[in-house]
Amino acid sequence: MFLHNAWYVGATAEEVSRKPQRRRILNEPVVFYRRENGAVVAIADSCPHRFAQLSAGFLVGDDIECRYHGLRFSPEGHCVRNPHGPLLPKRSGVRVYRTAELLGVVWIWMGDAERADDADIPDYSSAFRAEPLLHGYAHILGHHMLLTDNLMDGGSHVDFVHTALKATGDYTRQVKVSLDGDTVLCQAWWINADIPPFMRLTFPDTTNADIFYNLRWNLPGIVLLTIGLGKASEPGTADGGFPALHMFTPETETTSHYFYITQPWGATSPEASEMFRASADQAFKMEDQPLIEGQQENMGAAEYFSLRPALLSCDAASVAARRLYQRKVDEERGISSVAASVF
Ligand code: FES
Ligand SMILES: [Fe+2]
Repeated sequence: MFLHNAWYVGATAEEVSRKPQRRRILNEPVVFYRRENGAVVAIADSCPHRFAQLSAGFLVGDDIECRYHGLRFSPEGHCVRNPHGPLLPKRSGVRVYRTAELLGVVWIWMGDAERADDADIPDYSSAFRAEPLLHGYAHILGHHMLLTDNLMDGGSHVDFVHTALKATGDYTRQVKVSLDGDTVLCQAWWINADIPPFMRLTFPDTTNADIFYNLRWNLPGIVLLTIGLGKASEPGTADGGFPALHMFTPETETTSHYFYITQPWGATSPEASEMFRASADQAFKMEDQPLIEGQQENMGAAEYFSLRPALLSCDAASVAARRLYQRKVDEERGISSVAASVF
């Protein structure tokens, strides 16, 4: 079950052009394209005649024409041309989705249009400094919450999965999980650690430090991760750091869209930027993604908690996020939530 009344990321801004782009979101086929003035359109990718994919058709000005029998639809979802007879009545049009473009990604509201509020569109621009930003996308053969689990363990998998990124030396780990309204916070420290090589690009004079790893999870599946160096013993020292925004959008019950925005560490040179991109790609696509897809293969279509997972201390934040999402799904469906307690 998915939460529908929420803003999800549907595409990167770069992906949406004058060439219709199909994407299944929350099990619904959607086609994205741009009007002639550049504004984003998102409508159901299914012709009301025989359900052909409109994304296989053509743009005519701001309208889209089905390539099967030529019905044409406006960005408002109304039939504006029928080569075979009168126009279809408005109620036989295609569904239109509200969208917004912010920070290089396209947000889409998947629920009741009248409940969409532009004020709720997540705006993370204050988390980033000036350009350049790196945008990325990966298609994942796994449930969207497995992606939340992966990040919200406070980096406890890093030592085992990302051997090139891990801190070394005789450090101690400290992790604190808390809740602020519907936000799950997880702050982890590697105290007195030898910093990993990729951090030395940015901090060339530092070999040993306290590394912080701050995670903020928000509905419907957005994680802001900031990493930096500070003093674990000093309050406020973990403000700032280098940001990476991870946004998870369900495609189906067992597959997901993973979008990210980040800012290269030490992007003072193209080489440093390229090294950053390569290590981020290596970390996620080569190391996290196969594990996540393997989990899904083992779990099949079963719901996560129904399999009675052995929960560890590093699961506190991800379990809280799963329960918050479930509680909102239950509220939306008007049933009393089995996920009443978040912790
Ligand atoms: S299926 Fe679209 S016009 Fe026939
Ligand atoms: Fe990872």
